[in-house]
Amino acid sequence: MKWALFTFMFGTLISCGREKKETNFTVLQDNSSIPLTLYSLQNTSNLKMTVTNFGGRIVSLWVPDKDGKLDDIVLGYDSLEEYLLDNSYFGSLIGRYANRVAKGKFLLEGKEFQLPVNNGVNTLHGGPKGFHNVFWEAKTVSTETGSRLELNYLSKDGEAGFPGNLSVKVVYTLTDLNELVIDYEAITDQITIVNLTDHSYFNLNGEGRGDILNHQLMLNANLYCPIDDTSIPTGEFRPVIGTPFDFLKPHSIDEFIDQLDPQLKIGKGYDHNWVLNKDSNELSLAARVSESASGRVMELWTTDIGVQFYSGNFLDGSNKGKVGKPYNFRSAICLETQHFPDTPNKEHFPPVVLRPGEIYKKSTVYKFSIIK
Ligand code: BGC
Repeated sequence: MKWALFTFMFGTLISCGREKKETNFTVLQDNSSIPLTLYSLQNTSNLKMTVTNFGGRIVSLWVPDKDGKLDDIVLGYDSLEEYLLDNSYFGSLIGRYANRVAKGKFLLEGKEFQLPVNNGVNTLHGGPKGFHNVFWEAKTVSTETGSRLELNYLSKDGEAGFPGNLSVKVVYTLTDLNELVIDYEAITDQITIVNLTDHSYFNLNGEGRGDILNHQLMLNANLYCPIDDTSIPTGEFRPVIGTPFDFLKPHSIDEFIDQLDPQLKIGKGYDHNWVLNKDSNELSLAARVSESASGRVMELWTTDIGVQFYSGNFLDGSNKGKVGKPYNFRSAICLETQHFPDTPNKEHFPPVVLRPGEIYKKSTVYKFSIIK
């Protein structure tokens, strides 16, 4: 990696809530000389988060439990050096293309594009220089509805293999209704493809505290996308009814996860895209997760059409997270709102093409509450 590392310098810590925290994060600079910083946001009901502008990554998210005790419920690291080595995308923004593009190839108006492959034969999460691995310009703003971090990134024509200069803005807001809102916008100067998401790993009992198998999950989807043995959708939309993929009524994640099912075998558990039940691009409920010991509930709302539910099947304890905690098999759940994987190669999937003059827009909201 080309970044210069200036250890033991520290950046301006911008606090947008009430708290100003010390950190052992070091400051890095890439060629664009954007300083790297840890930003903190807080609402009036005690929700707190920190975000680094390296990859726009959510580093911590403190949420009250049923007794009002705060725990950090996202996986992450204590230092920027660890994020540079990360291959799990902890807390990152993902782009230009969330999830997989088969063999990294796609056609756009008759022209073939080849992205660098980084996941077997496929490209995953925008490839090695995806949005998780770049420096975002950042500024914090306090508003009446909560504190906000605005991140901007210009992905240049040809960067990571994608056509067009793509200008991207992502805004994180913590509202006083205990919501984390993520708003995305992008514009381009040439036809391109865009599919953005965030990749937080949640454990509602607190990061590093066991697995998520007892979490109760509801997914508002009648259909999901089965995958081939390289995790590319086959193109079929399969009804969840009567399969281990049915989360229409909430049940614990472990209820069917170890069933002998060819699809679960490929993903080593759940690692699939669900097709959300919706008939417009309005914000609608996609998922609800709850955990009884802490009493925490997390609802996921989105304007997007799909969600990748990944049950942390590739975590194996080798990532040492915050305070050196090993992040073991299935110790977190990811719910990545998105258009369907490999859409650029699937004519019948809703398109991901963005043209000059159009605005890509999407919002995702995580709403936190307590089991009633
Ligand atoms: C993918 C998984 C991958 C994980 C971390 C998920 O979105 O579907 O296959 O292991 O991200 O990279």
